[in-house]
Amino acid sequence: MSTPHNSAEIGEIAERVLLPGDPVRAKVIAKNFLDDVKQYNEIRNIYGFTGKYKNVPVSIQATGMGIPSFSIYVHELIHVYGAKKLIRIGTCGGMHQDLNLREVLIAQGASTDSSIVEREFGGAINFSLLANFELLSKAVDNAKKLNVPVKVGNVICTDRFYNDYGAENGTYSSGGLTLNEKMIQHGILAVEMESAALYLLAAAANVQALAIFTVSDHVVKKEYTTPEERETDFNDMVKIALETVIDK
Ligand code: HPA
Repeated sequence: MSTPHNSAEIGEIAERVLLPGDPVRAKVIAKNFLDDVKQYNEIRNIYGFTGKYKNVPVSIQATGMGIPSFSIYVHELIHVYGAKKLIRIGTCGGMHQDLNLREVLIAQGASTDSSIVEREFGGAINFSLLANFELLSKAVDNAKKLNVPVKVGNVICTDRFYNDYGAENGTYSSGGLTLNEKMIQHGILAVEMESAALYLLAAAANVQALAIFTVSDHVVKKEYTTPEERETDFNDMVKIALETVIDK
């Protein structure tokens, strides 16, 4: 059986899955890091591959950008294909001064401006979106072993790449602070667009999930990495994610 978005047969996707947004990156990761690779999906060019990392079956499934696209693939991975450990690997925009370009960041928690969490609980509670602790602590350990410094904390998962959250007279500015300043004041480290969906879908299905990022740009410092730098920086994060996803 396949789905409208994924032509994999049941059993073709591993229980351990890495989730880059970019399909080309999925292909490069599968080629550079996995053995015995088989491509199982090319519908909409949102590629998916299964191979082996240190003899453990691992899949790399691209997701596209943003919560709606991401949620389609992750819902099907969990509910149709039986994925049990899911690690998002992507880029984020740094917000906090302490965060520097090219650093690796692990999302311990995800805040969001998306309505998906509120709707899940009918607006009755503000559900905390959390990383799976086991994966989180293993990722921190693996980063240490690999000699890659990481920061761990809260991120803002936004539905809008282009917003006015940094504008002085932005829609949500208040008390002399822009919304970005207010979020930074509360310890939010970076902005990205998928982690809230990952943590919500994983919590609802009782599977393990984690989101790891490299800082590709800094929203406040107005700094940007080049595509070549992003390629190299990505490798540290991929290694941490692969070691973590196969960790027993
Ligand atoms: N905003 C939202 N998502 C992102 C960014 C950003 O600046 N950089 C990488 N992902």
